[in-house]
Amino acid sequence: MSTTTQPETSAPFDVVELAKLASAIFRELPGGAQPPAGLGGAQPQLPAAAPVTSLAGLGPPAGGPPPLGGAGVTAPLPGTFPDFAPHSLGVPSSPPTGGLPGNAPQPGFSLDNIPPLLASLPNEVELHALLAPLLKSPAPAPQPGAVPGGLSGLPAQTTPQAPTYYFVDDNFGTTPQIPASAHPAFNAESVARDFPILSERVNGKKLVWLDNAATTQKPRAVIERLKYFYEHENSNIHRAAHELAARSTDAYEKARETVRRFIHAGSVEEIVFVRGATEGINLVAQSWGKKHIRADDEIIVTNLEHHANIVPWQMLCSESGAKLRVVPVDDSGQVLLNEYEKLLNDRTKLVAFTHVSNALGTVTPAKTMIDLAHRYGAKVLLDGAQSISHMPVDVQALDADWFIFSGHKVFGPTGIGAVYGKKAILDDSPPWQGGGNMIRDVTFEKTEYQPAPFKFEAGTGNIADAVGLGAALEYLERIGMENVAAHEHALIEYATKLLTPIPGLRIIGTATEKAGVISFVLNGIPAESVGKALNEEGIAVRSGHHCAQPILRRFGVEATVRPSFALYNTFADIDALATAVRRIAAGTVG
Ligand code: ALA
Repeated sequence: MSTTTQPETSAPFDVVELAKLASAIFRELPGGAQPPAGLGGAQPQLPAAAPVTSLAGLGPPAGGPPPLGGAGVTAPLPGTFPDFAPHSLGVPSSPPTGGLPGNAPQPGFSLDNIPPLLASLPNEVELHALLAPLLKSPAPAPQPGAVPGGLSGLPAQTTPQAPTYYFVDDNFGTTPQIPASAHPAFNAESVARDFPILSERVNGKKLVWLDNAATTQKPRAVIERLKYFYEHENSNIHRAAHELAARSTDAYEKARETVRRFIHAGSVEEIVFVRGATEGINLVAQSWGKKHIRADDEIIVTNLEHHANIVPWQMLCSESGAKLRVVPVDDSGQVLLNEYEKLLNDRTKLVAFTHVSNALGTVTPAKTMIDLAHRYGAKVLLDGAQSISHMPVDVQALDADWFIFSGHKVFGPTGIGAVYGKKAILDDSPPWQGGGNMIRDVTFEKTEYQPAPFKFEAGTGNIADAVGLGAALEYLERIGMENVAAHEHALIEYATKLLTPIPGLRIIGTATEKAGVISFVLNGIPAESVGKALNEEGIAVRSGHHCAQPILRRFGVEATVRPSFALYNTFADIDALATAVRRIAAGTVG
């Protein structure tokens, strides 16, 4: 009697095992060997962006900037399989050397070599991301509901095994986007390890960074990119016929293209680099606004606005004689659409409003508001300072006339931000600052300007930080903004559940759609004291008016405590916050 039978179906396909094997084999192959498209090797169907500089022939350094592995890391040679070793392990990468051409294993290659190689392989999530396009195997779905047990009394749930590092590709400028289906399963603990500062200790406790609405922390990808810029590319741009000018120009213009792609603008001509969202709004007010806003015109803002989206319009109104109108909000902190509609009329020339409130977290019904404004012929400026790091943004789908954000709130450096403006509108807007870089020709009689975006970028811009911003957005592209949004949605729900029952705590802003922020007051305890007491626990939040006094006063308060979230925050961070707030409320801390 036969004791063995062949199973009719094979065991489930194990993508990770295959990935490990494939990676090991490619590592053993000679320098000329190429992994198939989708494995991170040469991707002829998606070539690197052509240099935008007119300095034809002067390209970036061969192979581009190196992987970000720290000291001793070398750039992959063109045409070789880039090294995907997890940087957190500090494994230096080096291109394969020697061997036979083509895909034949070099002498000495043996499957016996594979086990030792596995030790330095990329982590599973990275490999999944790399292989999914090839294997058509979708990445595991994110598990936004998976939270550890904590103060909520919810049962502990298992979180996916943490990969060691998220930064799957450091090959700046030469690697195309990983398709959305290939994004790694989201794991905030892993993401947090990409941000060196999150290992800091404050007052003897692990830092819990919940002041993301004020500024976000920077991943190693950004820090290393800045270092690389200053070590290998630093020069002024668009000016000199020398190699470094070409490198820096290419890096800067590549960052512009990354911004375009990230917000899905139609053209790089629609992307202007500025210092940040505040400067961007002032640019629109001083440029388009001064040309187009006249006495008795009306500008509409909402009660939710940050001071940066109020003051520039007040200044324009007082110069032009135009009037500022304000859309009220309901008791949850959501814009009252019927009141908004009543304010719209044929004198309305501009509606300027926030996508997400920095003080309450309200997500405004942006698309509806934009469409309504357009029916009246008004232009719309959408302040994206607080939405850009929390959700996918598509400026064409939104049909915003301008979309503005700061780099430092989206994991990029300070001092850099972007204005998206529809091309026809930018073409119809005069420069707002004069100087070098923005001119085509200057005589003492008259000056001819460059077309947009350059006519809005007078003087030497913040070149390095624009490049750093590009690196931040590429980092987010690898993670997938849908993953970020799902994770943060779960975080906000969890935090709301934990904070709401705390005696004396009142959440300010309870709109159904919220992102990034929870604002609250504790009966009888000044917000600043709560902030200081949280700091004693290593927890950073903002307490104060958040540069949005009108909306706080709408709710009868002058200050709130504002924990604000980002992709690297974990459910354990929320547990730490809730525990501390509970103790502060009970008078046992602070
Ligand atoms: N706008 C920043 C904030 O909301 C500074 O904290």
